[in-house]
Amino acid sequence: MRQLIAGNWKMFGKLADVTAFANAVKTAPAGADLLICPPFTLLERFAAALQGSAVAVGAQDCHPLPQGAHTGDISAPMLAEAGAAYVILGHSERRSDHGENNAVVRAKAEAAIAAGLTPIVCVGETEAEREAGEAEHVVRSQLLHSLPPGFAGVVAYEPVWAIGSGRTPTVDDVAAMHAAIRAALLAQLGPAAAELRILYGGSVKPDNAASLLALPEVGGALVGGASLKAEDFLAIASVAQRG
Ligand code: PGA
Repeated sequence: MRQLIAGNWKMFGKLADVTAFANAVKTAPAGADLLICPPFTLLERFAAALQGSAVAVGAQDCHPLPQGAHTGDISAPMLAEAGAAYVILGHSERRSDHGENNAVVRAKAEAAIAAGLTPIVCVGETEAEREAGEAEHVVRSQLLHSLPPGFAGVVAYEPVWAIGSGRTPTVDDVAAMHAAIRAALLAQLGPAAAELRILYGGSVKPDNAASLLALPEVGGALVGGASLKAEDFLAIASVAQRG
């Protein structure tokens, strides 16, 4: 399976950053599918700058409803109109900063699919849950309750304790979790789940990307900090598998 390397810019980035970044990534040799998820304010600008290239644009959240009196929120059809093809949902920072639970994430995934977007649904355990031996149980439960029936998007496994920390699980732990996620997806969604990409996210950097992306069932990476510099993002993409 061709891997997807997705950049999550979080609440970083200015208009002045768009052109140079877009020019760097759109001319890169396409070993993997590339996606950049900037803040809402830069979506349309990125979509214009990357038009005609193979690099897709995505958002970092959407509201479950297509429109309404929800001050400060953005709907999935609005994202699609701005040029997004993907949307990250249920990131652990959304779950903790905004109290998003699995039911909310599932409603958002349904809204994204209805608007023609590909959702990237994030799951992952906390450090305490891993130490208690609960990591797979927690992740299976998040999948069960966050993914709508017939889900045809992307899943991102992001251990909460690995995000922005410079720490990653061992390659054996990543491989074991990705195998467990694949088994859970097949049980939950049926044979079509064999085709879904399962990304790894959490402190993916140029120096650890090759070992993580070489693991079975790792369908790509969701990259935070290292996606802000085009050079690092492209270094990660350059070791992705063509499938
Ligand atoms: P990080 O973030 O690569 O900075 O750890 C990953 C993410 O939160 O998606």
